[in-house]
Amino acid sequence: MATYSEPFRLDGLAAVVTGGSGGIGSAAAEALAAAGADVAVLGRNREKLERTAQAIEAAGRRALIVEADVTDESSVAAARDAVLAAFGRADILFNNAGVTSPKLLAETTLADWQSVVDVSLTGAFLCSRAFAPVMSERSYGRILNMGSILSGRGMANRTAYCAAKAGLANFGAAMAFELGKHGVTVNTIGATVIVTDLNRELIRTQPQLYDKVLQRSAIGRLGEVEDVTGLIVFLASRAASYITGQTIYVDGGYTAG
Ligand SMILES: NC(=O)c1ccc[n+]([C@@H]2O[C@H](COP(=O)([O-])OP(=O)(O)OC[C@H]3O[C@@H](n4cnc5c(N)ncnc54)[C@H](OP(=O)(O)O)[C@@H]3O)[C@@H](O)[C@H]2O)c1
Repeated sequence: MATYSEPFRLDGLAAVVTGGSGGIGSAAAEALAAAGADVAVLGRNREKLERTAQAIEAAGRRALIVEADVTDESSVAAARDAVLAAFGRADILFNNAGVTSPKLLAETTLADWQSVVDVSLTGAFLCSRAFAPVMSERSYGRILNMGSILSGRGMANRTAYCAAKAGLANFGAAMAFELGKHGVTVNTIGATVIVTDLNRELIRTQPQLYDKVLQRSAIGRLGEVEDVTGLIVFLASRAASYITGQTIYVDGGYTAG
């Protein structure tokens, strides 16, 4: 007899997590594995990817390390080939790789702008274009984009990041209309500040930078990676088959105020 939890399981599926070496990416990879998926982790730092791979294997699933740069078309194509050679399928893509460059507009160089847009937005485009046909072929697919509360609002010092994350959300909505009839859903996660290695030191040394986020949070604290991973697993599962084109905020209520 089917249990209520079955539609939330990912057994037999294969996931690809870009930025699988980072704070949110490695936690997401572990959570997807715990829910039953084999997971390929993609990034440039092999040592960190190996740590994530060990956690996936500790959950009893197959792990694949893919050293790749999401901004490089041929690197992404090679990554797709490596995933298919290892797993024979790719059902879930988490477009999570991202960088930031916190500068005022006047100080933002073209190189700063391009690095942020290239990784977050162009990287998601290249990866989605590479993996979507693989998903459509099997009539099941889940593309998740790692957005931000800044996918839907502005902030000083973050012009490139805001542009990239807003673009990512609407890129996702557009893809949803192309892929929905093939069983592939596309959604964006709009996260508030999530404590990772990226910002841990800054939160400790300059807590005032986070005052506004904390004041606006209904829950009254910053996010932890575990606050995001539940939604990632849910959106990747059959239980979320009728949710697509959305930006879903995981922000302790920040955008509700
Ligand atoms: N932490 C937050 O407060 C927060 C809030 C909202 C949204 N986000 C978003 O969540 C995502 C993950 O952030 P995080 O906090 O986990 O930061 P992180 O630990 O710095 O992770 C960033 C990841 O992106 C990867 N990456 C960067 N450039 C890449 C490239 N060219 N090709 C492949 N991978 C690349 C890095 O891997 P390698 O260095 O190995 O290449 C790393 O794994 C980002 O998109 C970020 O914008 C974070």
